Amino acid sequence: MYKLIKQEGRAKRGEFHTVHGVIQTPVFMNVGTVAAIKGAVSTQDLYEIKTQVELSNTYHLHVRTGDKLIKQFGGLHKFMVWNKPILTDSGGFQVFSLAGLRKIKEEGVYFNSHIDGHKIFMGPEESMQIQSNLASTIAMAFDECPSSVAERKYIQASVERTTRWLHRCKKEMSRLNALEDTINKKQMLFGINQGGTFEDIRIEHAKIISELDMDGYAIGGLAVGESHSEMYRIIEETVPYLPVDKPTYLMGVGTPANILEAVERGVDFFDCVYPSRNGRHGHLYTRKGKINLFNVKYELDEKPIEEGCQCPACRTYSRAYIRHLLKAKEMLGMRLCVLHNLYFYNTMMEEIRQALDEGRFIEYKKAKLEGFLENDK
Ligand code: GUN
Ligand code: ZN
Repeated sequence: MYKLIKQEGRAKRGEFHTVHGVIQTPVFMNVGTVAAIKGAVSTQDLYEIKTQVELSNTYHLHVRTGDKLIKQFGGLHKFMVWNKPILTDSGGFQVFSLAGLRKIKEEGVYFNSHIDGHKIFMGPEESMQIQSNLASTIAMAFDECPSSVAERKYIQASVERTTRWLHRCKKEMSRLNALEDTINKKQMLFGINQGGTFEDIRIEHAKIISELDMDGYAIGGLAVGESHSEMYRIIEETVPYLPVDKPTYLMGVGTPANILEAVERGVDFFDCVYPSRNGRHGHLYTRKGKINLFNVKYELDEKPIEEGCQCPACRTYSRAYIRHLLKAKEMLGMRLCVLHNLYFYNTMMEEIRQALDEGRFIEYKKAKLEGFLENDK
């Protein structure tokens, strides 16, 4: 259940109530694709870096270890020892971006596993069954994320199929939630808006899926190669046609600046690999923009990554030491960098919520953006 607490223009401050606790929004979900945050970050660490929601992937967990085994163990929460909300992506996007040869049919997608090449079929029902086995808090609908260079005609047909798939997801989720041996009988389901950069297709699709009373709505198919300004335009045009009393989730986005712009346009949920991926490469977020810790100017730097930061890395270690760890390819180096970056994102979301609570989000956003370097905007 979503409670809209406050609005400033289109920006929303909300609370999303789940069986695994309340999510304060806007929120950044921390990506743990294979039920692990890359960079040797444990679920115990997540509690320390203000993580509210962990995100895992249906496709990856299905092809390795397997959702049936995870169900036998008692579900993802017990498996990872994480008692806060988990969102699982449906596999749709990952099948399209990772798997080898694939064939999209009305019934679903035939593809080869990226691990050993074996043939797999996944359709809306299979995706719901896997997510039900994983027992995540929030499941995502099985959708097609068309290529950014796809033609209008292809996108139109693809979106229509994604709508038919959504009806099938909804029906299958209701059936699964009513089964005796389902672990999370209150599993929620978000629908996904598609339509590439075609405003009329996006709006038409948003109107249709809004009728379906989903637990939340995602905007998919963005950050796939279009410019930032085009992405902001699509968000701006689509959000008004999604229910304001349900959470809005912008999938796979983005930089701190992208998040600030999207919050202003009414987005509640975000996820992105940037903080963990950049952290693993020694690229660290600070209030002045990203710094590269490999730079020789840090070799004797006694300061923490960012002065005043309360993350586990900055509370204890110097830039010089962490730089040394990275250069020596010690796992601890990556781990400290990822912890700092996730803490940076989670803290920015906390600041955004506080600014919204106090009715000064636009002011906050402006000041935050002014602090970042030009290439971080
Ligand atoms: N992650 C990023 N974009 C997408 C999308 O369009 N669909 C799904 N299912 N996941 C995504
Ligand atoms: Zn830090």
